[in-house]
Amino acid sequence: MTFENVLTSVENGLATITINRPKKLNALNKATIEELHTAFEMLAADSAVKVIILTGSGEKAFVAGADISEFAHFSVDEGGSLAAKGQKMLFDFVENLSTPVIAAVNGFALGGGLELAMACHFRIASDNAKMGLPEVSLGVIPGYGGTQRLPQLIGKGRAMELVMTAGMITAEEAKNYGLVNHVATQEELIPLALKIAGKISRNSSQAIAGAINAVNANFKDGVDGYSVEIAAFGDCFGTEDFKEGTTAFLEKRKANFSGK
Ligand code: COA
Repeated sequence: MTFENVLTSVENGLATITINRPKKLNALNKATIEELHTAFEMLAADSAVKVIILTGSGEKAFVAGADISEFAHFSVDEGGSLAAKGQKMLFDFVENLSTPVIAAVNGFALGGGLELAMACHFRIASDNAKMGLPEVSLGVIPGYGGTQRLPQLIGKGRAMELVMTAGMITAEEAKNYGLVNHVATQEELIPLALKIAGKISRNSSQAIAGAINAVNANFKDGVDGYSVEIAAFGDCFGTEDFKEGTTAFLEKRKANFSGK
């Protein structure tokens, strides 16, 4: 399948999705959000794909936010609907995928761009990356989950300051805050993402899917994460991966997981 604003590739079970609107600093318009949804859906449905890396094209931006030109004239209802549809179609969708998703933040990750990176399971960044939620400088608030996921990741006080000042932090500051896990040079960013993804891909994808679900349960209202963990733990005992993993350990060899 070919997209207008998104590139996909798969090599050795590791998929890369590249947001490709460099002239608009990869800003998320409606079409791009829809294409990203389809790309994630297709790659997540492919059992040969073990990890998905999300990045932006060009050297300047991961994503410079939602496309301001598309919503500048919106009414109250249209604004609410934009956030609701976007959250469901892309941000919540990515967060709840069973396939691990790593954001490789290669430049500006602002507004919807940082919100998209935060919806991924974890983030790494290039040393030129800048992150922030500048929405209040436009008279709006973060609407793709930013007010929820930013305090989860960096704490309430830091999130409040970043949101209220509409400021930007550097990749190093983001690492100190726990917003990104690693910082690399631009050239080393994708190789680092692939290296981490490679490590993940050698483990049981069944178990990883259960772990993602259990970790996410910690952040869902009205959901008892411990119960989700217990159920997911029990489910592992019915998988081929569990038999292979434990047998390989006892036979002192490396496990070769089927993902079943
Ligand atoms: N929505 C729509 N278009 C955007 C965009 C966005 N969020 N961010 C950048 N662009 C467009 C610019 O309008 C410009 O298009 P043009 O060449 O047709 O005029 C192009 O991308 C390049 O951006 P430009 O502003 O010229 O680059 P810069 O290096 O001077 O500044 C930023 C970079 C990221 C600081 C600046 O683009 C910016 O502030 N963007 C908006 C960030 C934002 O508020 N995001 C939250 C949205 S809710």
